[in-house]
Amino acid sequence: MSAHILDGKALARETTEALRPRIGALRRAPGLAVVLVGDDPASAVYVRNKSQRAAELGMVQRQITLPAHTSEAELLTLVDALNADDAIDGILVQLPLPKGVDKDRVLDRVLPEKDVDGFHPINTGKLWQRRAALVPCTPAGVIELLRRTGVDLRGKDAVVIGRSNIVGKPMVALLEREDCTVTLAHSRTRNLDQVVGRADIVVAAVGVVEMVKGAWIKPGAIVIDVGMNRRADGKLCGDVEYAAAAERASWITPVPGGVGPMTIAMLMANTVFASEQRQ
Ligand code: GUN
Repeated sequence: MSAHILDGKALARETTEALRPRIGALRRAPGLAVVLVGDDPASAVYVRNKSQRAAELGMVQRQITLPAHTSEAELLTLVDALNADDAIDGILVQLPLPKGVDKDRVLDRVLPEKDVDGFHPINTGKLWQRRAALVPCTPAGVIELLRRTGVDLRGKDAVVIGRSNIVGKPMVALLEREDCTVTLAHSRTRNLDQVVGRADIVVAAVGVVEMVKGAWIKPGAIVIDVGMNRRADGKLCGDVEYAAAAERASWITPVPGGVGPMTIAMLMANTVFASEQRQ
């Protein structure tokens, strides 16, 4: 079998274009603030892409770049100011934050209704209770990609590899909401090859070059690769051995051009949703 490719770039374009009428119906343009601390080159690229997409959609867009030595107190003061700013509907603090800053204290300070990353414990709790909430962007984008396959997700065996707060854990909650039977695998999981081999849906979010082997994939499975890694030769690649997995899967996401663009599209969707709620 040779897998169909799930084109995240095309789906992201459609998803963001569908937001335009909702933005047009609002009394004022949605506002997004993106905060970048330090000079991590990958983060700088992500932040630039997020701000650019917001600007293209006609949103009020504020990018705040701070030096790596910014203190936690200064960051908290900035978050307080953005919380109080009526033109700002969404606040995103790009991770990772520099050492010495307590990331949880900063993220918890963002008002839940402006938390377009969906990282606030209030939003995390609502997600698990199936209540309307701002949902983390990458796992929300994965669900849109899965829907795009047209495959009925109900009752499917799904495996999520990686238990981060940003991707793995909310991914489990969202797949459960789609009536999948979900296994959360991680670095201590035994016989990962067999766990993956039973799954109809595999979501890999570990950040290790090609650690999920193509030979593990059950024939006909859907493979979603959240990884964005750089190989020794400088090429970008995911967490899945792509070519070998594509031989067995029914659907697979490429890296780049799969999950990445959908993360940004879902951030735009969250910002519009937050703005609608606040207006
Ligand atoms: N760093 C890597 N992914 C993300 C994300 O989705 N949101 C934020 N804020 N930081 C990240």
